[in-house]
Amino acid sequence: MNNLQTIRAALFDLDGVVCFTDHYHYLAWKEMADAQGWDFNETINHQLRGIPREASLEVILNHNGVTLDPQKKQELAHLKNERYKELLQQIDSDALYPGIVEFITALRERGVKIALGSSSKNAGAILDKLSLTVLFDAVVTGNDIEKPKPDPEIFLKGAELLGIHPFNCVVFEDAESGVEAGLQGGMKVVGVGTPATLPNAPTVVRDYQKDIDLDTLLQIGKPARISAHPWEVVEDTFVPGKAGYWESIFALSNGVLGLRGAIEENSPNATEQPGMFINGIYAFSSPKGYPNRPDGTPPKSQVMLNLCDWRPIDLFIGGEKVDVLSEHCSEHNRTLNMKTGILTRSFVWNGEEGAVRVTLRRLVSMTRRHNAAIELTLEALDRPLNVSIESRVFGKSITGQFGLDGTTLQNAEIDKDAATLQFKTLNSGLSYSASFSHSDSCSKNHAWTQNDADLCYQADLSLTPGTPYRLEKHAAFVSCMDEGDPAEDVRQASADGFETLAAEQTEYWRRVWEQCDVKIEGSVEDQQAIRYNIFQLHQNHPMDMQRSISATGVTGANYMGWIFWDTEMFMAPLFTYTAPERTRALLAFRYGQLDGARRIAKNLGRRGALWPWSTINGDESNADPYVSTAQYHIVADVAHALHRYWQATGDDDFLFAQGAEMLFETCRLIASIGCFVPNKGNRYCINTVCGPDEYNFPVNNNCYTNLMFKWQLEFAQSVLNRMAQHCPERLAELQKAIGLTEEETAEWKTIAEQMYVPTSETLGIYKQDDQYLDKYPVDMSTLPRNYEFKKDVYLLSLLQMQVSKQADVVQMLFTLSERFTPEQKKANYDFYEPRTTHASSLSPCVHGITAAEIGYTEEALNYWKQSVLMDLDDCKNNTSSGIHLACSGGAWMMLMFGFLGMRTEENRIQFSPRIPKEWDGIETSLIYQGTRFNIKVTPDQTDVTWTAGPALQIQIRDTQKNLSSSEKIFSLAH
Ligand code: BGC
Repeated sequence: MNNLQTIRAALFDLDGVVCFTDHYHYLAWKEMADAQGWDFNETINHQLRGIPREASLEVILNHNGVTLDPQKKQELAHLKNERYKELLQQIDSDALYPGIVEFITALRERGVKIALGSSSKNAGAILDKLSLTVLFDAVVTGNDIEKPKPDPEIFLKGAELLGIHPFNCVVFEDAESGVEAGLQGGMKVVGVGTPATLPNAPTVVRDYQKDIDLDTLLQIGKPARISAHPWEVVEDTFVPGKAGYWESIFALSNGVLGLRGAIEENSPNATEQPGMFINGIYAFSSPKGYPNRPDGTPPKSQVMLNLCDWRPIDLFIGGEKVDVLSEHCSEHNRTLNMKTGILTRSFVWNGEEGAVRVTLRRLVSMTRRHNAAIELTLEALDRPLNVSIESRVFGKSITGQFGLDGTTLQNAEIDKDAATLQFKTLNSGLSYSASFSHSDSCSKNHAWTQNDADLCYQADLSLTPGTPYRLEKHAAFVSCMDEGDPAEDVRQASADGFETLAAEQTEYWRRVWEQCDVKIEGSVEDQQAIRYNIFQLHQNHPMDMQRSISATGVTGANYMGWIFWDTEMFMAPLFTYTAPERTRALLAFRYGQLDGARRIAKNLGRRGALWPWSTINGDESNADPYVSTAQYHIVADVAHALHRYWQATGDDDFLFAQGAEMLFETCRLIASIGCFVPNKGNRYCINTVCGPDEYNFPVNNNCYTNLMFKWQLEFAQSVLNRMAQHCPERLAELQKAIGLTEEETAEWKTIAEQMYVPTSETLGIYKQDDQYLDKYPVDMSTLPRNYEFKKDVYLLSLLQMQVSKQADVVQMLFTLSERFTPEQKKANYDFYEPRTTHASSLSPCVHGITAAEIGYTEEALNYWKQSVLMDLDDCKNNTSSGIHLACSGGAWMMLMFGFLGMRTEENRIQFSPRIPKEWDGIETSLIYQGTRFNIKVTPDQTDVTWTAGPALQIQIRDTQKNLSSSEKIFSLAH
């Protein structure tokens, strides 16, 4: 089993999954019903699937309008069961689900444990009769449980008997209640049937051989991956059980506005979490737990609000309401085109009155950052039809998190071009206005109606074949953070038309891809996935200094819209080396929160400034100080991003005007949270912290934190020197403004020199912290990978375990790469990698970079897959709550720092390419110190081509060359 294998156990329902006993149930019930003179048929029998005997009898009694006393019911149920057992004596291999024995055998050969989870109390006997018992490692039947499906008890018991964590289990089920049980148990679920019979199943199969790719099943718990296309992401069948996943995958945004990809119909059965966000608009909720934060920061959490839902458009064709789940709907397809940033949806409605092709396109405009639009086209396919359209806006904020109601309506105004709603947030003093307008090709009559914060635009039309109908729905959102009039924005967009917005969008993306496209030859899957991650990162960048990119951007409500170190450490590098002005904006956002950071430090009784660990508005939002405030390392993470940016651009203006102030203020924090400890040889120690690994806290001397701080203090020293040389007046001005003394900066130097670094001479490695090596060893095969198991373990037990949630020492090996030898990297990686669960999506990419560097090629490729496919494969079962944007940036970093071996120095950029053997080539464009160049690596050769800017030193492996307009090409055979 390699570390890509998520699935370690498969749990099967019996009837309709392993074999068919329906017929015998049918015969037994039928005999009983006939004897009582009741009606019973195949349709009623079908309704009894997956439900216990007593409940089945109730269904039959209800159907016949009969009431019986409990004793009689028991008697009849017993009689039926006795007869059923007799009939079962006839069961033979004809009753097996075709291919099931071969399928289970193949799973077993791959080391997967097998269990049965059947409500039938006769399940054991049936397995025996079919000679299947040997294939099952555990059998749980109706005799062993108290709560029937949909309660997860039966599957959880099966997993426990197998000794496998539910996250690593896949359930095969043919009944909705069983699907629900598997999902509630936190397992992957494959429905055996069709989307129509199992609407809640995330995936369905009918044929174990044809419909399941075993490798994929074992890797991601799904029978197949989504289809691979170089520039598109396609959903070819609508499965309600996967609605939430696609809502995140198809989330469109421009960094300011975010619209989740819920379908247009106002149908709770076909949507999971529709979402409309404005980056930066939040309300407060009281955090649970830790009410008395020791640091005195406000006990209020910021929660990004899910604002008014303007997406719904309901269609009534020939009087029938269009419903994606109806059998009248076919050819349903949604395609996200990453070249244009437009999501297209189409289907055919074949209703009682005639057929219509429905096409919808939507975009969130990258060029008009207040605007978003949906275009609807209807084409009658055979005969004329009457159509009614109800286009809605649900004004109420639907955020249920922490019981918030979100917003209150302040004003509503409807005029002939636009309807405008104004809202105030409940308790955070923020506000926003949203305007909506419709324009169409030919409706007979149309009108808005308003009910409090809800609006409905109604239009009626006659549709004739050959004359398509088009409706455009425009929306504009302007919050208190922005300037402008949304009504004017929608009027303008309406006047210009969707086609114009689409053309602007396409042109915008053409320019973005010119800057940062990555071409991977040899794997369409990898090609699609890396583009998808770059697409998401770009569209979530607000290009606005008041806002940054939160952990899931504006694609979902996970992490409440909070900004973490994710932004600077994982997302920023893509921008730094392809579109550095975007990193500048992210750093400028931090600068805007410097006063808040000063306040946090002051409240803690420290000097300088401490960035909040998780925030929207600059205050700490996380209620748990041990994994938030204690992650002091965030100050060095921001400093590191500043350094990368400055090194890559030479932007002294930013460094001197804003960067230096952030840097110096946070150095003060470093100098005020530690102490020269006599017992540690008077070295500078920093106690009671949390490093990147959130399973170990509080700890003393987290190695990552200490070495990053040492690095930061040294960087600060070099900035001081540089400023003294290049702009002494600005330095003097800054020193005066923040009261920075020479004694202080001299102290920084001493601290950097005397920083305590925990190491183990015996093991020849860095210690993650003072305590890590003393912790209890853990059998890692019992822990799920890629899964947050903190909630399953008693906290005091977790803190005893020698286990890391995510890269910590390994994070340091990458971030301070130039400070370690290859041997040190290997020794430390070998020790920490096996102890890491990667419960954080930030972890695999960082491991992958070092794995590639030390020659663990296969392991590097595994980590690459886990990073680049994190959301497309839904590796963590939580993509429905939003895209893991740090992981998206991590995938790009892995490509550059891992496979291309990119490293930077002040006057040079170097590459040590080692691309996976599965690939024929990789090519991208980068910018460094104002020089744009193209790099292409094939298995045999690396070519770097200068495209613009001044001369630049490029190093490939050990050879260097100066590239410029007169010496454009540098090729090196491998
Ligand atoms: C990780 C942090 C990360 C946060 C947001 C947590 O699970 O441990 O490192 O910053 O998620 O992505």
